[in-house]
Amino acid sequence: MLVASVLPANFADLGGQLQELEKAGVDRVQWDVMDGRFVPNLTFGPDVIAATRGLVGLGFEAHLMVEDPDPMLPRWVDAGCEIVIVHAEATTHLHRTLGRINELGVRAGVALNPATPLAAVEYVLDLLDLLLVMTVNPGFGGQRYLAGMEPKIAAARAEIDRRGLDIELEVDGGIGTGTIGAAARAGATVFCAGSALFNGPGTMADRVTALRAVATAEAA
Ligand code: DX5
Repeated sequence: MLVASVLPANFADLGGQLQELEKAGVDRVQWDVMDGRFVPNLTFGPDVIAATRGLVGLGFEAHLMVEDPDPMLPRWVDAGCEIVIVHAEATTHLHRTLGRINELGVRAGVALNPATPLAAVEYVLDLLDLLLVMTVNPGFGGQRYLAGMEPKIAAARAEIDRRGLDIELEVDGGIGTGTIGAAARAGATVFCAGSALFNGPGTMADRVTALRAVATAEAA
């Protein structure tokens, strides 16, 4: 599954960029929500997401790179996000936060920064629909893929399979044709790409096809 990060998009034409992504064949859109505190960047709020909701049929996931995500959880759902991803490092009571997301009737995800061990989600894995292993330090697009995260991806794959859980294992950061294969071999099944979709040879559809081809060929 290929998820498009809108972080590198032309923000002056966000609607048009989403429609281009849909036409190019991506499976879902990731909104990289940043608050300037949890990460040193500031992006968009729920009103921006809501403004584009009716323009495409693609599913929206909100990747909340924000401190204390609980107070605004309903806003992302009202804006049209079907998946809400919080960072394990950003909330004191992760188990309660995930329960709140589930109560809102949408799918719940947890993102792990590179330094955060898989153990951080050991006692909430059964509450998850999605686990996002960051392969860069969050805050900006265009960063180098951290191959050192592959053991964490593989351990997550093994634990999800061992418990027989239905959890999407997603990776995000530095994903391109040169790195998606290693992430797939490690056991990821959902790949979030930004720069590699908006920049590069050929059309956006060509880049979607190329990424899919490598991920499929290398799938664990
Ligand atoms: C990091 C962001 C990026 C973005 C994709 O905070 O979450 O990972 O989604 O960036 P690229 O694909 O350009 O590395």
